Amino acid sequence: VKELQVTEESQIDERRRATERLPHAASANQLHELAGQLHLAREEERKRLARELHDELGQALTAIRLEIAAALSKAPAQDTFFTKKLQSATAIVDSTIRAVRRIATELRPATLELGLIPAIEWQADEFRARTGITCELRLPSQDVVLDDDRLTATFRILQEALTNVTRHSGATKTEIVLEEHHDGLFLEVRDNGRGMTPNPVGKRSLGLLGMRERALFVGGELTIQSTPGAGTLVGARIPFL
Ligand SMILES: Nc1ncnc2c1ncn2[C@@H]1O[C@H](COP(=O)(O)OP(=O)(O)O)[C@@H](O)[C@H]1O
Ligand SMILES: [Mg+2]
Repeated sequence: VKELQVTEESQIDERRRATERLPHAASANQLHELAGQLHLAREEERKRLARELHDELGQALTAIRLEIAAALSKAPAQDTFFTKKLQSATAIVDSTIRAVRRIATELRPATLELGLIPAIEWQADEFRARTGITCELRLPSQDVVLDDDRLTATFRILQEALTNVTRHSGATKTEIVLEEHHDGLFLEVRDNGRGMTPNPVGKRSLGLLGMRERALFVGGELTIQSTPGAGTLVGARIPFL
């Protein structure tokens, strides 16, 4: 025991000396903290941008559309050039309104303000429509109560997992499961695709890392189970407090 204590003490000493030698080196905890803060800042920025795009730009475009409609109603019937120009301007404004909505939604879907379950349902619809991959949902019957950080973390993990399914899995089926347990909220995204092959050395997995950091920052964890040829399961535990 004595010996053990001694080695332990000398290890602590060694660590202290190492820390003193490197006063500016960040610890792993500090790096996790930094990653988390960056995600938070980015999320705030996305929220603000989405709102401004939707409100300011959206309103201005709608006003322009009304002005054009007013001019069009007064256009002389025989002036086809004038009428055609105003009609094409209306079409351009309409497609710009759609683009603004799409960009705002990509930044931060408005359904997130309604809660996690509506947001997951919306995301699953988007996913099915975009990829043609089936997506089954098993969700609690009542929406879960979560603070904004946990809500956002869970949703962004889901988005990254689905992006990976689209890009890498070749799956035909996916399933999203959300369950409430005493030790937290559990999100699972399962696909029946090709599974992960061990990472080639030097390849950075920033998506997987990002998911892990998001879970860690709210006190949870991320697990990945994958068998080559037999699909992938991404699981996140998000504790309630
Ligand atoms: N659902 C999946 N099915 C098969 N392979 C996957 C899946 N998700 C991730 N991968 C593999 O893990 C790698 C790392 O994923 P990720 O960190 O998100 O990086 P990226 O998506 O930018 O390649 C991917 O390049 C891919 O090879
Ligand atoms: Mg990815």
